Amino acid sequence: MGFDVGQPENPYSARFLGTCLIGGLVLGASMLGFYLGLPLPPIGIKRKKKKPIRVYMDGCFDMMHYGHCNALRQARALGDQLVVGVVSDAEIIANKGPPVTPLNERMIMVSAVKWVDEIIPDAPYAITEDFMNKLFNEYNIDYIIHGDDPCILPDGTDAYALAKKAGRYKQIKRTEGVSSTDIVGRMLLCVRERSIGDTHNRSSLQRQFSHGHGQKFEDGGSGSGTRVSHFLPTSRRIVQFSNGKGPGPDARIVYIDGAFDLFHAGHVEILRLARGLGDFLLVGIHTDQTVSANRGTHRPIMNLHERSLSVLACRYVDEVIIGAPWEVSKDMITTFNISLVVHGTVAENNDYQKGKCNPYDVPISMGIFRLLESPLDITTTTIIRRIVSNHEAYQKRNEKKAESERRYYEDKTYVAGD
Ligand SMILES: *[C@@H]1O[C@H](CO)[C@@H](O)[C@H](O)[C@H]1NC(C)=O
Ligand SMILES: *[C@@H]1O[C@H](CO)[C@@H](O)[C@H](O)[C@H]1NC(C)=O
Repeated sequence: MGFDVGQPENPYSARFLGTCLIGGLVLGASMLGFYLGLPLPPIGIKRKKKKPIRVYMDGCFDMMHYGHCNALRQARALGDQLVVGVVSDAEIIANKGPPVTPLNERMIMVSAVKWVDEIIPDAPYAITEDFMNKLFNEYNIDYIIHGDDPCILPDGTDAYALAKKAGRYKQIKRTEGVSSTDIVGRMLLCVRERSIGDTHNRSSLQRQFSHGHGQKFEDGGSGSGTRVSHFLPTSRRIVQFSNGKGPGPDARIVYIDGAFDLFHAGHVEILRLARGLGDFLLVGIHTDQTVSANRGTHRPIMNLHERSLSVLACRYVDEVIIGAPWEVSKDMITTFNISLVVHGTVAENNDYQKGKCNPYDVPISMGIFRLLESPLDITTTTIIRRIVSNHEAYQKRNEKKAESERRYYEDKTYVAGD
């Protein structure tokens, strides 16, 4: 039974509004068409409503990043409704070891992606014939979607062979420049920097990276090494992720800022609350320099453009400022017509209040600042700690995956699509 992601207070219901508006436009266009001599649907006969095309994509969505979001965006573009299967914890443990994020958090993350319409929790790791039939017959799925990287089952067969044979399979292009393995690598590197004196950990980590992206981590933990990324941000990608709409007239604009590093369920939940306090949520994303200055040289794990894409993919977010100032100034409040500035109670740098210059001094003095009770007690550090505490397991898993990724990047050729 899929969960319908749309909730009443959910801004996604804006899509409903959008449809009504488009309905209005269609009427206008029909009248125009009359004058321009374009073919019109016969008057008085109700046009048969086209059945929406439903597409299915599954995944573990562990440590979800903008690469996953981009895959979901591409999948959604192949149909009208996107149903996403999220693999259960038990299935992930059985197939590749413990997930960093438990199912409930992975569900929050996937539901928050603006291109997702429905979710099936506890999806199987591999699509069996039974499950495929269930998808086609119970969930009315038209096509099963998967990336262009091969997905081979332990018995050596193609996981999507059945769907392909049924002619119900469509492929999307893998998102270049990011993978969970790469992100775990960056986190482990950040740990290495902190425990630099520990020769045991150091050598085992070096061994790991010598199998994968070895050369690129050679800087010996100077701090800049954390920003290794294959990701090349293009303006087109940012446009694809954007809503492309400003606030409507009289909209109440809410502002929240932060690093949003390793975008997680805690972020999603505070953004949901913030969005509920107004009509338009503007999110300020701090620059890499600001984050480093406040949280140490090993942060952020994800660079500014990567963090921006993750936030933009979230359905509760209307607009982002890519590189927001640390202090919320009067000028900024005026420029964006901000009605309310919020900040969560769970954050990594909440000692800002003790400092001599509180970044929220201006909104506080204007009486438009509000501290929001964070629904989840998760921070970026929580995520890094989970990795570190399962260090050995992740390291082994990472070594294997890094090898196949290294091969991918060595063998890769140009593939059309986006
Ligand atoms: C480093 O290794 C020691 C034991 O050799 C271990 O107790 C410690 O937790 C390790 N630190 C990290 C960050 O993995
Ligand atoms: C600024 O925001 C307020 C709501 O807080 C709204 O009433 C007003 O119309 C907005 N101003 C402009 C110029 O959009």
